[in-house]
Amino acid sequence: MGSKRTPLGVGYGVLVLLLVALWALTPANASVSYDRKAITINGQRRILISGSIHYPRSTPEMWPDLIQKAKDGGLDVIQTYVFWNGHEPSPGQYYFGDRYDLVRFVKLVKQAGLYVNLRIGPYVCAEWNFGGFPVWLKYVPGISFRTDNGPFKAAMQKFTEKIVSMMKSEGLFASQGGPIILSQVENEFGPMESVGGAPAKSYAYWAAKMAVGLNTGVPWVMCKQDDAPDPVINTCNGFYCDYFSPNAPYKPTMWTEAWTGWFTAFGGPVPHRPVEDLAFAVARFIQKGGSFVNYYMYHGGTNFGRTAGGPFIATSYDYDAPIDEYGLLRQPKWGHLRDLHKAIKLCEPALVSADPTEMALGNYEKAHIFKSRSGACAAFLANYHPATSARVTFNGLHYDLPAWSISILPDCKTAVFNTAKVAAPTLPAKMTWAGKFSWKSYNEETDAYDDNSFTKDGLYEQLSMTWDKSDYLWYTTYVEIGQNEQFLRNGQYPVLNIFSAGHALHVFINGQQAGTVYGGLDNPKLTYSGNVKLWAGKNKISILSVAVGLPNVGNHFETWNTGVLGPVTLTGLNEGRRDLTWQKWTYQIGLRGEALNIHSLSGSSSVEWGQAYGKQPLTWYKAFFNAPPGNDPLALDMGSMGKGQIWVNGQSIGRYWPGYKAYGSCGGCSYGGTYNEKKCQTNCGESSQRWYHVPRSWLNPTGNLLVVFEEYGGDPTGISLVKRTI
Ligand code: GAL
Repeated sequence: MGSKRTPLGVGYGVLVLLLVALWALTPANASVSYDRKAITINGQRRILISGSIHYPRSTPEMWPDLIQKAKDGGLDVIQTYVFWNGHEPSPGQYYFGDRYDLVRFVKLVKQAGLYVNLRIGPYVCAEWNFGGFPVWLKYVPGISFRTDNGPFKAAMQKFTEKIVSMMKSEGLFASQGGPIILSQVENEFGPMESVGGAPAKSYAYWAAKMAVGLNTGVPWVMCKQDDAPDPVINTCNGFYCDYFSPNAPYKPTMWTEAWTGWFTAFGGPVPHRPVEDLAFAVARFIQKGGSFVNYYMYHGGTNFGRTAGGPFIATSYDYDAPIDEYGLLRQPKWGHLRDLHKAIKLCEPALVSADPTEMALGNYEKAHIFKSRSGACAAFLANYHPATSARVTFNGLHYDLPAWSISILPDCKTAVFNTAKVAAPTLPAKMTWAGKFSWKSYNEETDAYDDNSFTKDGLYEQLSMTWDKSDYLWYTTYVEIGQNEQFLRNGQYPVLNIFSAGHALHVFINGQQAGTVYGGLDNPKLTYSGNVKLWAGKNKISILSVAVGLPNVGNHFETWNTGVLGPVTLTGLNEGRRDLTWQKWTYQIGLRGEALNIHSLSGSSSVEWGQAYGKQPLTWYKAFFNAPPGNDPLALDMGSMGKGQIWVNGQSIGRYWPGYKAYGSCGGCSYGGTYNEKKCQTNCGESSQRWYHVPRSWLNPTGNLLVVFEEYGGDPTGISLVKRTI
């Protein structure tokens, strides 16, 4: 029997082939590849400007506006990590709703006509809780993170495949007509590999192969991974990346994290990066032949809930980014970068078709010239002196170059842009008062045992008890003091000493607050040492140990401890020193208020709320409020408070800690670091974070429930609602 023919007399097999070929040629399906110069889209080399916007760090209602502002700022690509612990809160239970609606986010980027760089990781660092790993992963038997370990690799592969197949089934890779032109596996594993030996090396190789085997049809990158195996592209992260070259001559020069500022930690100052320095860094990278730049962050946003990593990463992840935490343009940063991007795009034909030639114009001055065979010419004139401006002559014309700057000449003649000359307006944002609250309070108890409390001999690591279901773990024990005890020695009561792996703790003796201690970003460990008023007979020692974000970076951070591991001792008794470490301790995970969900509308009526007196430790406060009219972004001014958490209509605004001031060597601007980048710091001696973003979309016009849990005694009457305006 002969093969079937179509009405046109063409074999069906041929017709199918023709259709496939047609489909492959439809402009919607882009073929993305790379060569030594650039990422190529449908065979065209592209200079791509990208910016990081992490979808869970804003609300879906904010996404379209953020993406549009990124587009207006001259971006081609939006880069985001994928946040595993948000998507798989318990093994096999996936969540892709609300702020974790990755598909919706990627589709919105597509709708705006931009591309996506999807950094699947699934290790992400990112100042995100546990670097993006779900805490349950730590308790998979036999696991060791980010090395040649069977259970880890199986879990990593499963999640990576889950994301890739989800993107595929939605048609989101460029090879399918979607916006995703690049993916990333792992994150900055190079530095870990150098200390991890052979198993680390084989893990990196495995990760690359595993990713490539998923056949996304678009290139994979590995950042800070000098040995990224082909075809994976190794890329640079840093304040400056003009020193960087990829590991093979046929790979393009890509910068996946151009740091626009830096993150804030509780207890640290607020970092800034002047836009002149950032623009200078980007121009230096492009003039060297770089063809992909991603701003980390373009919009930093907010670490809502308990998503902040650390420990001690603040709730604000503003990052001094071109779009501020609240979604407003940060000017002049946004505008100056937009102008830079326009200038770079004018040079694109020359940049993609020629290699730069360098020409000295003076001791500190240099030209980089891109001259293509077809006649395109673009030049970058640089002055590397950090303090002195220069006048140079190039092709017979004079150019004035401010210190530490680059001028861009898209036709090799006209300087259309200089990185140090900011034309965009300076428009500072203001916080203006928009309302106050009338509070009711409820006291959390220091002996709120319920069915979940349990008693064990000795002290246990905090995470192994809580699995991070709560920041809080109570450690309670009793001490018998004899009738003949001489409590005062030289006017001093006995001393209680507590050693903890971190991050903060509050001590109560017989229900009375005795002290608060906390570690810091550099060292989360802490020691409490205080004179405590004991009495003859039975005394209760309650320690509330508080986690403030789990580590997100460091060698095998999954093995680092949290909580009171001891020793815990009493000194200054008749008997001298008494070790409490190995006696019976009762454990209670979380607060009573948390168990009752009193931060939610339904749960808040489960307790009796009384009059609020303020300045009490361990106190819940609640108030109702109406949304101020208009669309200006809103925040809570928590300046009068100590430390705790905030909820609005049951949604967690995040941890607050204005009581932790920015101390230490701090302040001003300086050039420094390996590449002499310019960095500035503000807020020295002040609260690291005073304002907390309340997304408009979480509010109803009237009757919004605000709940605050205060740990050590702030004054809620000082809390106000503020509007952010430019
Ligand atoms: C990088 C890392 C990012 C982020 C950044 C600091 O090293 O890749 O995820 O942590 O540092 O903000």
